[in-house]
Amino acid sequence: MDLDLPAISQLLARAAALESQDPLTRDRILLKRRIALLFYESSTRTRTSFELAAKSLGADTTLVSSLSSSIEKGETLKDTGLTLRALGAEAIIIRHNSSGAPWLLEQETRLPILNAGDGMHEHPTQALLDLRTILTHLDLSSKTVIPSEARAASAAEGSAVSSSTLSGVTVTIVGDILHSRVARSNMLLLPRLGARVILCGPTQLLPDSAANAGPGISVERDFEAALRQSQVVMMLRIQAERLAGLQIDLGQYKDAYQLTGQRLAAHAPKALVMHPGPIIRGLELTAGVADGPQSAILEQVRHGVAIRMAVVERALTAQPKEGRA
Ligand code: CP
Repeated sequence: MDLDLPAISQLLARAAALESQDPLTRDRILLKRRIALLFYESSTRTRTSFELAAKSLGADTTLVSSLSSSIEKGETLKDTGLTLRALGAEAIIIRHNSSGAPWLLEQETRLPILNAGDGMHEHPTQALLDLRTILTHLDLSSKTVIPSEARAASAAEGSAVSSSTLSGVTVTIVGDILHSRVARSNMLLLPRLGARVILCGPTQLLPDSAANAGPGISVERDFEAALRQSQVVMMLRIQAERLAGLQIDLGQYKDAYQLTGQRLAAHAPKALVMHPGPIIRGLELTAGVADGPQSAILEQVRHGVAIRMAVVERALTAQPKEGRA
């Protein structure tokens, strides 16, 4: 995430403006511009929301998936990118299992590249939509995060962000931090707005060295102690596809780190519960919590479309070499 705070404020403001704009005028913004979605990993939320976002702005989109394209025959990322450019793509949205793939693609194609998640590295638009979700629940006067049931009247959604917007707000990220690009992007973003970030999980999924990840970030192994300090709890899925032989005892994991209704009621009855998805009901959280009044999980999904409209618009209208999401 190499966006500065004014650029983040601008994206948030554009997301709000585009979301409320008449679809009949909004779809002229990128009318007939060509955008390729290049997905080497499966996705539901990110792929669909990027596609809906681009189409809402009038762009034509095409999906290239590793399972149904010449990537299966061995075509490289470089050659795939050059081919998409030759076909008229003006920007590429990429999800890849290797960290740094978006950077490489940009070097090779010189097109605007949007990172839809690269390996264990980053998922910048997820962090932006997570930020928008938190801001819609942030009461500016009391600097408290109000969960869904009693949403803040003075929500900070439309305001410019600064280095103190989230001061006094503690966000706990729980679970498989080691393999999570969502955790990494949020760890890079939220402390810059003044949030305190607690990382919580077992040593196998959260090495001790994470305590040195940056200012405003600390490690707490005791989930209930972390919950008691939190206004926002961000649960993560165990990324089975990236464990590479690491054995996790799921029974022990659930005992220590599953977010249950009982735990939530006892230790964080006013916290906002978030999860980037996909959720695994009965593992990192119970169905009751996922569907409960403190859950903002589907709101996060909804914010994905607005944020990605703003990001796609920026990519196709900004001057080259500005900060990218
Ligand atoms: N949050 C997220 O990246 O979900 P998908 O893998 O479904 O895109």
